[in-house]
Amino acid sequence: MTIVKLIKWKWQQLISSLGCLLLILACNSFYPSTKQDAKFLKIATDPTFIPFEIQTASGKLEGFDIDLMNAIAQVAEFKVDFENLPFDGMISALQAKRVDAAISGITITPQRLKTIAFSRPYFKAGLAIAVRQDNQNIRDFNSLQGKKIAVQIGSTGADFVKTIPNAKISTFNSGPEFFQDLLNGNVDAVVSDAFATLYAIKNGKLKGIKVVADLLTEEYYGIATPKDSPHLETINKALAALLSNGTYKQIYQKWFDAEPPQLPES
Ligand code: ARG
Repeated sequence: MTIVKLIKWKWQQLISSLGCLLLILACNSFYPSTKQDAKFLKIATDPTFIPFEIQTASGKLEGFDIDLMNAIAQVAEFKVDFENLPFDGMISALQAKRVDAAISGITITPQRLKTIAFSRPYFKAGLAIAVRQDNQNIRDFNSLQGKKIAVQIGSTGADFVKTIPNAKISTFNSGPEFFQDLLNGNVDAVVSDAFATLYAIKNGKLKGIKVVADLLTEEYYGIATPKDSPHLETINKALAALLSNGTYKQIYQKWFDAEPPQLPES
């Protein structure tokens, strides 16, 4: 082979490799979402909140919120990558866009709406007072005055107890911890989400504890996202579909054995 022929041959090789490369790139942009690169959304959750999000001994996430989020992902055709975060760190993780969304029985409040966004309400909730079974003197909001009360850090329960005159407040990271403190006799009462507390008592998870006043407040849980999230509309559309096609009702009945109440649209 002469030197001229060799150069020509190499040149042809280069052109045909470039051609192949272009063809591959073009094919990829026509068919972008194969199974491998289907969209993953990172969803934060604090799985210490039975029956909304809990983690089994083998590490599996379960609960009403987990089922709902998976159903949303199925309708909206994205994949869920759950990430466990302490409840108290969720809002800052959303603000910093370290996660795409959070589902964790998070109450929609005007205060939170200043820094993050919420989906349409997906669960009607409220706070409850829990005491030890032998307690006779705490019956309602007024009887909490001057009492020792445990709450979850950063929760609506923590905000609520700030309005009780002379209450001595202890804050904890998770449900199991503040209920343990109540059982140990360190505090007189716990103020936390009614459905979670009642569910735990009914399922034998909180022996020695009773609820004396439930639904002290009217709250709605929403799926939280960063403020300008491109996923909020997708999540809302999927939620609307699940509410009208019976899937929401099915999930509600699975966990609460009851008909779901009517939810406001926003
Ligand atoms: N609903 C309450 C709030 O938004 C408490 C939620 C606690 N959730 C949890 N996964 N620990 O403040």
